[in-house]
Amino acid sequence: MSGKKIMGEADLAIHGAPPAFSQPLHVGQPNIINRDKFLAGVARALDNRWLTNNGPLVQEFEQRVADKLGVKHCVAMCNGTIALEIAIRALGLTGEVIVPSWTFVATAHALYWQGITPIFADIDPVTHNLDPVAVRRMITPRTSGIIGVHLWGRAAPVGELQAIADEHGLKLMFDAAHAFGSSYRGQSIGQFGACEVFSFHATKSFNTMEGGAITTNDDDLAEAMRLMRNFGFKGYDNVIHPGTNGKMIEVCAAMGLANLDGFEDIVVANQATHAAYQQALEGIPGIKVLSYDLDERNSHHYMVVEVGSDCPVRRDDLIATLQAENILARRYFWPGCHRMQPYRDLFPHAELVLPQTKVVAEQVMVLPAGASITLQQIQAVCDVIRRRVSP
Ligand SMILES: Cc1ncc(COP(=O)(O)O)c(C=O)c1O
Repeated sequence: MSGKKIMGEADLAIHGAPPAFSQPLHVGQPNIINRDKFLAGVARALDNRWLTNNGPLVQEFEQRVADKLGVKHCVAMCNGTIALEIAIRALGLTGEVIVPSWTFVATAHALYWQGITPIFADIDPVTHNLDPVAVRRMITPRTSGIIGVHLWGRAAPVGELQAIADEHGLKLMFDAAHAFGSSYRGQSIGQFGACEVFSFHATKSFNTMEGGAITTNDDDLAEAMRLMRNFGFKGYDNVIHPGTNGKMIEVCAAMGLANLDGFEDIVVANQATHAAYQQALEGIPGIKVLSYDLDERNSHHYMVVEVGSDCPVRRDDLIATLQAENILARRYFWPGCHRMQPYRDLFPHAELVLPQTKVVAEQVMVLPAGASITLQQIQAVCDVIRRRVSP
């Protein structure tokens, strides 16, 4: 558990009105599950004198992830963004690709960086995921594909998106950066579309410090992505394809192997955190906890709250109050990719077709969570919110 200290009565007496937390309480505190196993893995890499270039730890990691997700291939990468770029290239996407604006900007940048135009489609305000009706509306003769994002670990509408892709001859892939361990209709995320891309960044529920992976059941695609990940090398000094450096290093794979062992414990802890927040926030006017589908798996990693128009305090004022108390709540993805550069200049009127994205972006607040947060800390966070909203 965290060493973070909640101020007690003694502190109040000495300092007058100190912040609720003496140390900042962050969103996205890294989960460090099995330190000894990680260090043993690092020692193994050093003993092997094999630090990168598809080493034994990376190979073991890929096999374990593929087994866990029930997919044929897992191609480990240095991070999720490069993994997205490689997947986009391997699929041969060109022209325009439909994506949500309500996502981390890497989803859009991975396209734009390669001369492809991201076309932003609106979301379902309940799930925060792509709305299939909006996706259909954005298809043009230049559209080559769709990237669905499983936002907050909740599966995008996979079936509907696949039907649209099939109908229009489009490629479909998923940004599964948030969705390690999640499911769609009971089946593990990682198996859908042409391929799925994970991020194992330090802030994710499952992390390799920096890292990512592409999963696919397509042998040829996996082979192409392996080549692209390693400059196009097929064997020693034989380059047969253009490529980049997308390799995961052995130390990151050691972290992944250690964290895989304790992942389900993290999910259980996150579920308890979510339930505790839900209970402690109950009845505060205008504060709604984004719920997870109980019949699907989800790591419950993100503690997402919507501050509605019926809340007497504006979202940004509430965040300012929390931050003054050392509770570093965040807006997340605000104001939407379409209002970030270069997309803001490219599509100055995008908001007209993104009404739900606009509303959600103005309401979302993400609260500190993660495996190290305590029930006492959660209660303290919620007390600050309650006092501010209904004093
Ligand atoms: C939805 C989404 N896509 C892509 C990425 C990029 O992943 P990475 O930080 O591993 O490059 C992130 C994460 O940070 C993300 O949240």
